Parts: sequence; structure tokens; C-alpha cells
Amino acid sequence: MKDIYLDNNATTMCDVDVLNEMLPYLNDYYGNPSSIYSFGKEVKEKINKARESLANLINADNSEIVFTSCASEANVTAIMSAIRNNPEKKHIITTSVEHTSIMETMKYLEKSGYSITYLSVDLMGRINLEELEKSIKDDTCLISIMMANNEIGNIYPIKEISEIAKKHNILFHCDAVQAVGKIKIDVKDLGVDTLSISGHKIYAPKGIGLLYVKKGTPYTPLIFGHQERNMRGGTENVAYIVGFGKAAQLIIDDDYNEVQRLQELRNYMESSIKSNIEDVFIYGDLNNRTPNTSSIAFKGVKSDELLLMLESFNIYVSTGSACNSVLAEPSHVLTACNADLDNFSPIRISLGKYNTKEEVDLFIKKLINIVNMFRKRG
Ligand SMILES: Cc1ncc(COP(=O)(O)O)c(C=O)c1O
Repeated sequence: MKDIYLDNNATTMCDVDVLNEMLPYLNDYYGNPSSIYSFGKEVKEKINKARESLANLINADNSEIVFTSCASEANVTAIMSAIRNNPEKKHIITTSVEHTSIMETMKYLEKSGYSITYLSVDLMGRINLEELEKSIKDDTCLISIMMANNEIGNIYPIKEISEIAKKHNILFHCDAVQAVGKIKIDVKDLGVDTLSISGHKIYAPKGIGLLYVKKGTPYTPLIFGHQERNMRGGTENVAYIVGFGKAAQLIIDDDYNEVQRLQELRNYMESSIKSNIEDVFIYGDLNNRTPNTSSIAFKGVKSDELLLMLESFNIYVSTGSACNSVLAEPSHVLTACNADLDNFSPIRISLGKYNTKEEVDLFIKKLINIVNMFRKRG
């Protein structure tokens, strides 16, 4: 039985073109990019070419890109840098639906004497900008809000949030991990101060990310060292940076055509499911979601049982973010949305560029049988 992987928000398969671009930098070109002889300089040039592709992808300048080991590191770097550069201010605003790398950092800061406002969301997972503006205090040093949610796909109004932050002279960090490659990102237009993205959501390997730091933003590294213009110490993960750059270039070359296909495939999938199964509920802001994501529940059917049954047919979906699945706790995102998880616990289907209509059709066929079987069993 062929695998049908429908969990592309958790991670994506490395593109073979990305892999081929990386391979020479694991053995042939193994020089240290900091070396001053040509064997090292060549490698440095390749890193800077990757930097340029990634800068182009988000409309940044090359000097605003700092490579990190992952987006979690980029998120933590941005938060810690903001607080270290505003030592007298002890209040941060975020949302109740952020990724765990943000949530856990906030919990740590709360224990260290910071006060954190977690903006609420409505049933569709939307935040309220009036609530945001009202929660600003004299000692607010940072607003950190994601561009797109990993579980329900909601897209948040980053430009408007950025304007509010600017009006009050507060730094604004944006976790754009689930948006990159799915929505065009223009950091200059958005006006964010810092922004993070990750390689493994865009067909590059796991273990590479970046932090965009707008020119002039006060900045303190998390890891000290001379690499990355003193902004992130540690010998560069050359092959992974090269792969990350290639993945960015592939998105630019495709000019977001794939996004259109994904959206059509996701919409087709949802409407086929709804016309074949009763009592279906789709979570999130249905008109303002990433094009590949569907958080979908079937009344009375437990999502973990559904996931395991689908797995027995080599079909892979998730019941929330990969991290929450490990914890086996109800998703903090769905809890924040006040979801009726006893009756409507969702599976998350997140499509990617390797998914075909045939795969989606096979998934729907199995899904209909499994949901009917569970409901008959009662
Ligand atoms: C919204 C969001 N932010 C941050 C991350 C963390 O990315 P990384 O795995 O590169 O640390 C993820 C990964 O799941 C994510 O979905």
C-alpha cells in the first residue's frame, strides 16, 4: 500500500532538487565559510547566494537575514532580544493560539516576572484588534503574533497589527512559519521588526530556519559568536542553508502557481467530504485560511481513533500540531477557540505539493467508510 502523506503542516518531504543542491556541500565543498582561503570563501559565497534567494522570497535585504538552527530558535531569539533591549519594560502581548516555541518562552518569562497578555480568539480562531490595542500598557516591550496558524490555518492581519505596534513604539515579532510558500510575504510592506521562517515546511530539511531582523532594530544574539555578522554564533550548517535557499528559489520560480492548485484541491476535498458525510464541522476562519489546511471534525467520531484507523491504510493526518500530538493533551488552539471537542474533535489535513487528486480521492473513500463504521458502532 502506497503511503498517502497528508500532514504537510507538520513537515514536508525534502525536494529532490533541494537535496541535489545540498549534497556537494556535505563532502566536496566542506570548507569552513569563515576561512580566508578560497576553499572556504567559495562556501561563504554559496551561503550568501542562499541568503539572497531567501531575502527575495520575503522582500528583505540580504543583511537582514540571520540563519538559525530552526524557526523555534528564531522565535526565541526575537523574543529574548526584544526584552533584553527594553530591560525596564515587563509586559508582552501575544495570542492564545501561538506555536509552542512562543508559548513555552512566554511561560518561562511569566515565571521570571514578566506579565503576558494572551489575546483571546473567537469560535473561528480570529483575534480582535481592539482587544490588542486596549491591552497595550506603558511597559509593553513586544507584540508577538503568528502570520498563519499551524492547526486551523487562520491568517492574521499582520500589517494592521504592525501599524498598531508602530503607533505605540513597540517591537513586533511575527512567526511566519506556516505562511511562507503559501502566502506572499513582503516584510517591507508588512512593516514587521522581526519574522521567522523554517526550512522543513517548504521542502528543505528539518533543522534550518532564519530570523529576519529589520535594519535598525535593536538586537542582541541568543548565541554569541562572529558568524552571521555577529548576530548568531556557530559554524554555519552549510548544506542545509544551501538547501533552504534552493527551496526558496523554487517557490519564487513557480510564482505561487502551486498555491492555486492546493487551494482547489483542499476545497474539492472539503466539499466532497461534506456531500458524502453528515454532521461535519470545519474549524477556523473559512474565508481566510492557508490554502492547504483543513481542520475537520465528524460528530461523535474521536479524532485519535480516526487517525489510527487511517494510519492502518497508510494515510497520515494529525489531530493537532505535531508537538501537541506527542503531549496527548487537547490542543491549546482548539481549546482557545472554545471547540466542542467531546462531539467534534478534528483531524488536521494539510496538503502539500506532492499530493495528487487520486490520493485525495482515495483518502475520502476510506474516510467515508471509517466514519460510517464508527457511527454504526456508536
Ligand atoms: C507556526 C510554527 N511556528 C514555529 C514552528 C517551529 O519550527 P521549527 O520546527 O523549525 O522549529 C512550527 C513548526 O511546527 C510552526 O508550525
